[in-house]
Amino acid sequence: MAGSAIGLGNIWRFPYLVGQNGGAAFVIVYILACIVLALPIFFAESIIGRRGRGNTFGAMKKLAPGTRWKWVGLLTVLTPVILLGYYSVVGGWSVDYLWKACTGAFANDPRGLFGGFISKTWEPIIMHTIFMALTALVILLGVKNGIEKFSKVAMPLLFVLIVAIAVYGMTLPGSFKGVEYLVKPDFSKLGPGSIAAAMGQAFFSMSLGVGTILTYASYSPENESMLDSGIGTAVSDLMFALLAGFAVMPAVFSAGIAPGEGPGLVFDTLPFIFNQMHSVVGAAVSILFFLTVLVAALTSSISLLEVGVAYLSEEKGMSRRRSTVILALITWAIGIVCSLSFGPLSGVKVIGLSFFDLLDKLCSNVLMPLGGLLFVIFVGWKMSKADVRDEFTSGGRRNTRIFGLVYFLIRYVAPIGIVIVGLTALI
Ligand code: PHE
Repeated sequence: MAGSAIGLGNIWRFPYLVGQNGGAAFVIVYILACIVLALPIFFAESIIGRRGRGNTFGAMKKLAPGTRWKWVGLLTVLTPVILLGYYSVVGGWSVDYLWKACTGAFANDPRGLFGGFISKTWEPIIMHTIFMALTALVILLGVKNGIEKFSKVAMPLLFVLIVAIAVYGMTLPGSFKGVEYLVKPDFSKLGPGSIAAAMGQAFFSMSLGVGTILTYASYSPENESMLDSGIGTAVSDLMFALLAGFAVMPAVFSAGIAPGEGPGLVFDTLPFIFNQMHSVVGAAVSILFFLTVLVAALTSSISLLEVGVAYLSEEKGMSRRRSTVILALITWAIGIVCSLSFGPLSGVKVIGLSFFDLLDKLCSNVLMPLGGLLFVIFVGWKMSKADVRDEFTSGGRRNTRIFGLVYFLIRYVAPIGIVIVGLTALI
């Protein structure tokens, strides 16, 4: 679950959203959104997945037979396919940048490198294809041998790498301003849009509302402490986002780059910094950094693909191999259009947004909060309290004292909070 949560959301998305929304004040709202809105959804998804013992559609069907709730399950099979469509494009960027780091491409003046790269037709598509192939490969190896083995090695490695890079970043001249930017709040920069962005980012980063946590929970043993999984995932995810912030922001300020420049921030900034370092150190750090990004992206993309694979193999009787190939091809095709929307299709806009931005906004600001809202309503209002308690406390053996608070958060605080934030952003 932590492998799913920690990904491009932390390294690529979090720093540029912090930059666009004024720094530390956004970080505070984000932490609040994680605790009050995201954690209850995490528990709701875990309860549905473990109680229903199945994919999103199957679990809902089992827990609320003869109702329309199973269609909510189906919605959350579709969302991760769309999300992975554009996620894998950014995954492709990280493959490309790892390659660039290995071949020493940052040693020449790296300014304009990113813009030049994403506007091309073929290079980003090839990289996106490699990324999708890697994702499918891990899924084909299965849950225990693929997902679990890969994550167990990759996750600790990630922490070591990002800490090393953050520590290095803070030694750069002028980097102190970046640290200050992350810890000194200016609430005047926060609008209702920023609050919605913080909520969307909390869901994106903790992999919520798209059935990922639900599906993984369906594989987890009944006596595992749900509270520990939730807190463990939330804390490691948050720590990783903050570490990524400290790895990126000091570097941004040290290079005199505008923190609000948007999705290109990480890819634009860091090569510039690597270029300033001693050539051997710069090469080593840049390879380590983009390896980190790639590994983090893969442990997330496999979890996105797994939702649909679980659905097709459990509900439609398809083999895992066939389900993986079909879904990988669909997401690959979506990704191609997203990738082209930075280049040849950059003029094509839907409601003023490029195809890539449209899918990102659709997923994180609409579909994920909607999925999360429906999950908490299902657990808080449709399932019986006795069943919810039984599942959360593993049959009365664990975390019984905190259950009252968790149930209150699931039943009232999270649904009302999501609706209020959603409506404020709309108005
Ligand atoms: N949480 C992942 C990240 O931060 C993205 C993700 C979203 C993965 C939803 C699975 C489900 O990069």
